Order: sequence, then C-alpha cells, then structure tokens
Amino acid sequence: MICLGIESTAHTFGIGIVDEKGKVLANVKDAYTTESGGIIPTEASDHHVNVCDVVLRNALEKAKISLADVDLITYSQSPGIGHTLRIGAFVARSLASQLRKPIVGVNHAIAHLEIGRLRTNAKDPILLYASGANTQVIAYHNKKYRVFGESLDIGVGNFLDSFARHIGLGFPGGPKIYELSLQSKKFIELPYVVKGMDVSFGGLLTHTKRKFDSGECSKEDLSFSIQETVFAMLVEVSERALAHTRKNELVLGGGVACNIRLREMCEKMCDDRGAQCYCPENEFLVDNGAMIAWLGVLKYQNQGGEKISDCVIKPYERTDDVEVTWYKD
Ligand code: ATP
Ligand code: FE2
Repeated sequence: MICLGIESTAHTFGIGIVDEKGKVLANVKDAYTTESGGIIPTEASDHHVNVCDVVLRNALEKAKISLADVDLITYSQSPGIGHTLRIGAFVARSLASQLRKPIVGVNHAIAHLEIGRLRTNAKDPILLYASGANTQVIAYHNKKYRVFGESLDIGVGNFLDSFARHIGLGFPGGPKIYELSLQSKKFIELPYVVKGMDVSFGGLLTHTKRKFDSGECSKEDLSFSIQETVFAMLVEVSERALAHTRKNELVLGGGVACNIRLREMCEKMCDDRGAQCYCPENEFLVDNGAMIAWLGVLKYQNQGGEKISDCVIKPYERTDDVEVTWYKD
C-alpha cells in the first residue's frame, strides 16, 4: 500500500509518500517565512495554494510513482491554523475524489510521535514534543496519548523565535540562538518556571527582552543562558514523566529537538537513569508530510477510511482527544 500524506498545519506545506511498512519514498516541503513578525494566516494559506502542485509533482517524482499508484490519501486535520489546515484538507479531498481512493484525517502532534517511534524503533516511550507552537510531554496509556505536562502559554520554539527576532536574528531563531550560544560560557540566572509537570515561557520572554534592551547582557551570554534554562525545564518534566510512568525510553520530536544542546541534555538525563534517548533525523523532527502519511497508514489499517464529507478540519483538537487504535499494549 502506498500512502500520500499532506501536512499544512502552519508554515509548512509538505507531501510525504510512505509504504505500509513505513519506508519513506518521498518527503518534500515548502515553508512560508516572514522577515518580521509571526505567521499571517491568509499569507500562509496563499503560500500553500501557490506551492501545492509543485510540491505534489516533486514528491511523486522523488518516489518514482504516479498518482495512479497511490492507495490512500491522508492529511493533517488538527491542530493548527484554520486557514492553512483548510488548504491541505481541500487538496486531500480533491485527490481522494478524483482518484476514488480512501482518505483519513490525522492529528499532527500524534504524527510527530509516531514518526519518532517508526524511525527509532522505540517501543513505548515518553515523547518530548518541542516545536514552535507546542511543548508537551506525552505518553501512551489506555487507548490515548496522554499529556503529562505542557506549556501554560507559548511553545518553546515560539519563545526562541520571538527572542531571536527581538535581537535581530530573523526567523527561524532556534538555529541562530544555538550558534550564538557556542560563543559564550557565562551563565546568567533567569526565571526558571516549572509548575508541577507544566512549564511557562511568557514571563521569561519579557524578562530576557528587557535584559537585552537595557544593554546589561550580551546576546551571546543570553543565548547560552536561555538554552541552559529552558532546556533544563524541559528535561526536568521529561524525567519526572519517565519516573512516574516507569517507562525507560524518551523520544524527541518537533523542530526544537534539532538543537544539539537539548539533545545532549536529554541524553545525559537518560544515561543517568538507565533510560534510552532517541531522536529521529532532522527532516522528521520539523513539520513534514511523511509523518502524516505514516500515521494515516496506522489509522487506516485499524479504522478504515472516512467519508469525504466527514473530512473536515479540527483546529483545536488536543492530543488526548484522539482514540489510539493501533498501539500494541
Ligand atoms: P507545531 O508542531 O507546533 O505545529 P511548528 O509548525 O512551529 O510546530 P516545527 O517545524 O516542528 O514547527 O518547529 C519549528 C521550531 O524549530 C522553530 O522554533 C525553529 O526555531 C526550531 N528549529 C528548527 N530547526 C532548528 C535547528 N536546527 N536548531 C534549533 N532549532 C530549530
Ligand atoms: Fe509540528
């Protein structure tokens, strides 16, 4: 079976093609970016409309197949920006009806998790999902992926990107903050906000912007200290989730997990407690179509296809709203 998956929850329009064993035949994307400010929903959806046919053509070429070879269409149905989700759903519904092939909609956060399990062979992990809009610590329990902890305000990636924009680094900020952090070893004490299993970055963002504006601290020292502080917060709640659930695997997901310092800190914590730390390749950490295609395969094999008229978008669906039918307990 060949599944074509469409990602369009936010800035990225991606198409992935995978087979029923999880072999990735293509994973092509085009991302909308801005010079300043965040995503403007109408501009992002215009971007997706403009690039969708080229991305589709490139994905089919890369996979060396034609549309007629596709057996299943899947798309990111939730959560995300309504404007952009609608473009992916529209393309998916058009393809499914034109090709007369089954269609399923999937949850983007769970797709990050399942592609992590696929690429690393982790069996029953805790997932640290650290992306632009989302920061969650997730684990499977009794037919659901449960959220054990999360950000109470902005996602860790949005925090890094907002700070980077403020100090003139542009977008995306994560990689630039990492580069700057390598030029400093001076740790500046910053607010460390962990509340039970949850974290918060809003106050820290205001605090670090003020520290930079006052000229008190260099951007190198702030970049270093920000990473040490926010990643320690993420490691703390991930470790507590491992301890609480008695699981012994940690899988990283989301674009912020491309950060080498975050990986080092997670690996160290896992080593210290005899757990395994896994991280898929960068192309599967950031938003991508392959993860949507793979979750589509899992869902279809267990639940079958959906009526085209039921293939709506669910911008506010949460990770723990979804019934997980494919997990082997
Ligand atoms: P969501 O899953 O919440 O919809 P998203 O669409 O914003 O998230 P991702 O592509 O998973 O995004 O992650 C984007 C984040 O990853 C940005 O904050 C960006 O700065 C960060 N990022 C991307 N590449 C790297 C890298 N090489 N090093 C560090 N951070 C990175
Ligand atoms: Fe994502």
